[in-house]
Amino acid sequence: MTETLTIALSKGRILDDTLPLLKQAGIEPLEDLEKSRKLIFDTTDPSVRLLIVRATDVPTYVELGAADLGVAGKDVLMEYGSQGLYEPLDLKIANCRLMTAGPVNTPEPRGRLRVATKFVNVARRYYAEQGRQVEVIKLYGSMELAPLVGLADKIIDVVDTGNTLRANGLEPQELIATISSRLIVNKAAMKMKHARIKALIDLLAAAVEQRA
Ligand code: ADP
Ligand code: PRP
Ligand code: MG
Repeated sequence: MTETLTIALSKGRILDDTLPLLKQAGIEPLEDLEKSRKLIFDTTDPSVRLLIVRATDVPTYVELGAADLGVAGKDVLMEYGSQGLYEPLDLKIANCRLMTAGPVNTPEPRGRLRVATKFVNVARRYYAEQGRQVEVIKLYGSMELAPLVGLADKIIDVVDTGNTLRANGLEPQELIATISSRLIVNKAAMKMKHARIKALIDLLAAAVEQRA
């Protein structure tokens, strides 16, 4: 009997960039995921199904074993903490940089820096390593707004073209990490379904190489 595999993905750029890699590994959803309101999808491989979850929830589904595999941004993994997961493959998609950013030509405030971000763990770790006192303000999106209305001095967010920062009078400052999306694997599944998962990793690795 073929072992089943469940793969957790998120809609948007991760889905757009992962589907061609899965296709090359012989896995195609049987319907258009972006159009459907369903959250579980069968594929051309009867032993593989796809789950659609929020990008930040992918590590949770995989660590707790509701999915065997998933695709998540390194930023999300840095924030979640990835010691409960395997991260065997850099898919080299959804490339961006995790950066601090602040208002153009504005000196650092004296005293405690206020930093708005959805990456609160990353932010605390980053400034702790620098021995810098900060107040971290948790937001769920539109971080670029925070410095414009006096909620924070700086933000930490992902930057690609820099257009969003520029459009809001902000500039990129310090690079925290270069980011791409990673294949993640549940630790127990990696043991129990080793041959099956290893074969899929090899096919995806070949697809990534071919794209490069
Ligand atoms: P969310 O709805 O959580 O913002 P996204 O699909 O926008 O999810 O982002 C998924 C992942 O893609 C992020 O974790 C990050 O690694 C990467 N990413 C986010 N924004 C960009 C961007 N503008 N350009 C390239 N990659 C990005
Ligand atoms: C992401 C990120 C930045 C923007 C950076 O937002 O949160 O706002 O992209 O990209 P840029 O440097 O090319 O402008 P996204 O487009 O994912 O929108 P979201 O708020 O729905 O996450
Ligand atoms: Mg986004």
